Amino acid sequence: MLAVDYRPFSWDDICGNKSIVSELKKRSLNRDFPTVMFFAGDSGTGKTTCASIIAALINDDNPIRGEGCLNPNPESPESKAILKETFNMSCSMYDASKMGKEDVMQLEEIVSSESFFGGKRVFIIDEAQALSQHAKGVTLKLLEKKRENAHIILCTMNPDAFDISVRSRGLFYKFRSPSSSDIAECLFGLLGKLNLADSVPGIFIQEGIFAIAENCEGSVRLAVQTLDRCIAGEFYSADAIAEAFGFVGNAKLFEIVSLMLGRNTSAFREIKKMDLKEFFYLSYRFISDCLVYQRIQLADAPWKADQYSRLENRRDAMPDLFNLYSDIDIKMGAYFKPVYCLARLTDFFKENAPRGLAAAPPCARVPAETSRRSPVGESGYRKR
Ligand SMILES: Nc1ncnc2c1ncn2[C@@H]1O[C@H](COP(=O)(O)OP(=O)(O)OP(=O)(O)O)[C@@H](O)[C@H]1O
Ligand SMILES: [Mg+2]
Repeated sequence: MLAVDYRPFSWDDICGNKSIVSELKKRSLNRDFPTVMFFAGDSGTGKTTCASIIAALINDDNPIRGEGCLNPNPESPESKAILKETFNMSCSMYDASKMGKEDVMQLEEIVSSESFFGGKRVFIIDEAQALSQHAKGVTLKLLEKKRENAHIILCTMNPDAFDISVRSRGLFYKFRSPSSSDIAECLFGLLGKLNLADSVPGIFIQEGIFAIAENCEGSVRLAVQTLDRCIAGEFYSADAIAEAFGFVGNAKLFEIVSLMLGRNTSAFREIKKMDLKEFFYLSYRFISDCLVYQRIQLADAPWKADQYSRLENRRDAMPDLFNLYSDIDIKMGAYFKPVYCLARLTDFFKENAPRGLAAAPPCARVPAETSRRSPVGESGYRKR
């Protein structure tokens, strides 16, 4: 599996999170990494990968010099152990979901003991959000002692998993999802490493990798896994990829949102053809992206610039549609009902339709029963 076999092992292969990578690169020169670090943020954004690079580098006798940084040497025994995930005396990885209070206390003893091989040790606690409440209690003790030769890196998907008293015992790094163009670039780099950049059809480079990057929910891991399947299944064009994975491309979103903004009921015909839930979230994000673009005029988002200029004459209607989506999002909570979403969109059309517009299209006609507001739930729905 590509996402496992091709975990980046040098700083320049990490995509996104530029300020974190730039700081870690500078620190790598003297290997002065903080003794306690929290790597928090979205799934598949490089937390465990960065922790592994640090762990491999810290005792590496023959690191490889990169541009303004030191990278671990993949041939060193340290690196080999980490790459094979067998780990060794200097680096150990703990799965927090399997750790109770006793285990954290035991780890505290190990961290406090002298390193008998003389080098530095790195303890990575992965998925730290999964530590039980009791285990978190003793984590404070684990983190607060001053240590000379031990580094502890806690990786957590949930930045709020630890309260400020624990978080402030170390340096806190918040990983964010890289932009679609960064992810596409990363996929392109990976194709190069696989010696496929020249052999895949050009359309894969022109549009396929962008379709993957735009639909991976900000997770590089998911993008790499989708790339893996595209290569195996020979899905190369954006259409083939959309078909295979049920993606809705930005061009399609643009078309439908434009129809909606024009109060054109054929939008419903388009919506009906696709996975409604997926469409709802993607178009919501799309409209919010366009509004953000209008506000801050993102210079590095060419596709948005293009969409923006085309949607500009609909500027006034966009906030209305966005508010409608927010309203649906809040009211639906955990109980996503596509029919409810359609019914609300239909109401919006009816209320705002230009005079003479026909009644709601058949696909949007729903029994009164289902168009009532769904109960509000607190959790469980995908928020993007
Ligand atoms: N920033 C990135 N740059 C390049 N590849 C990445 C990046 N983030 C993730 N990947 C890819 O995804 C895989 C998993 O990444 P990693 O284990 O670092 O994610 P994570 O942030 O720890 O996610 P989780 O919270 O789910 O554990 C890597 O092996 C690599 O292929
Ligand atoms: Mg991880």
